Amino acid sequence: MAVLVTGGAGFIGSHTCVELLNAGFEVVVVDNLYNASEESLKRVQEITGKSLKFYQTDILDREGLQKVFDAEDIEAVIHFAGYKAVGESVEKPLEYYYNNVTGTLILTDVMRKNGCKSIVFSSSATVYGDPAFVPITEECPVGGVTNPYGRTKFMIEEILKDYYVADHDWNIILLRYFNPIGAHESGRIGEDPKGIPNNLMPYVSQVAIGKLKSLGVFGDDYDTPDGTGVRDYIHVVDLATGHVKALEKIREMKENGADEVKIYNLGTGHGVSVLELVHAFEKVLGRPLPYEIKPRRAGDIATCYADPSKAKRELHWEATRNIDDMCRDSWNWQSKNPEGYDRD
Ligand SMILES: NC(=O)c1ccc[n+]([C@@H]2O[C@H](COP(=O)([O-])OP(=O)(O)OC[C@H]3O[C@@H](n4cnc5c(N)ncnc54)[C@H](O)[C@@H]3O)[C@@H](O)[C@H]2O)c1
Repeated sequence: MAVLVTGGAGFIGSHTCVELLNAGFEVVVVDNLYNASEESLKRVQEITGKSLKFYQTDILDREGLQKVFDAEDIEAVIHFAGYKAVGESVEKPLEYYYNNVTGTLILTDVMRKNGCKSIVFSSSATVYGDPAFVPITEECPVGGVTNPYGRTKFMIEEILKDYYVADHDWNIILLRYFNPIGAHESGRIGEDPKGIPNNLMPYVSQVAIGKLKSLGVFGDDYDTPDGTGVRDYIHVVDLATGHVKALEKIREMKENGADEVKIYNLGTGHGVSVLELVHAFEKVLGRPLPYEIKPRRAGDIATCYADPSKAKRELHWEATRNIDDMCRDSWNWQSKNPEGYDRD
């Protein structure tokens, strides 16, 4: 039986496909290539020496998804597909709610009709809003989200929890990611943002390669050791192995019956400030990076890092790569692929 990976051609999806194939899972990818290139999947197969099946299908396309379920024997779904740019979601709320929420409704309806009720969902630390406490445990209150993107994540979490209340045959794991960066150590796959990057690391690496002039650091007067925002950066390969562990958990839940919707933070448990990340990157680069301090950005919070102990306890997973590894691998990818996958 195979695992269906929606959004599998994207940044986290492609790295997860590598780890799934390495762990011996059969992989079927559904992606509409809105924010990805099929080249990433070619490289996944090249890295692993194993093959996967790819359907260029939109999760909003019910008939298209049905064809995938007709052709493949799907045991579980890892659901990455969605839009993810916080700023853009403020400008285009309808598109975000439609793609992320309606897309999930259609996907899960097709799953249910085909007797597949096992799903691992890509949620985000953004559901904690300005966290009530740090390190953030899964019990930290959720829902105080300040943008439509984050609200789609919160809403989808609530929707999936309701499925379980109504039907205990559902096996559901919500993974709340902290800040994934880095790339596969081969330098063959990595993050390939369209246009100007929204997130810090791709911005830093594009400044390093000379595509962008200087990095804007938004705020140096937060209540943090050096005044800049503190986040829990996690290597994308560590995040990917977390999904393999989640699937093993799903198999256990299928066998024994799920007693609840399982929720796990995937982070390292270490906070790193913007300037610490910049300096770690400079060490890899061997030269300084131009940056300018700018005013705080609306909606940004001072400090956000995980308590990942529940994932360690229950999934037997923990992050093993540090910030230096993340910077080295991000730069390895960026310097070997200055134009990313070179898509249109
Ligand atoms: N990268 C992060 O910082 C981060 C943090 C927390 C959560 N997440 C979540 O993890 C998931 C993956 O993120 P990513 O960084 O790999 O993003 P990504 O944009 O690289 O990957 C998302 C993939 O989904 C595809 N897609 C989008 N809409 C689709 C649709 N309607 N039908 C089929 N495919 C569609 C895109 O083409 C892309 O390949 C997303 O759900 C994102 O919200 C990401």
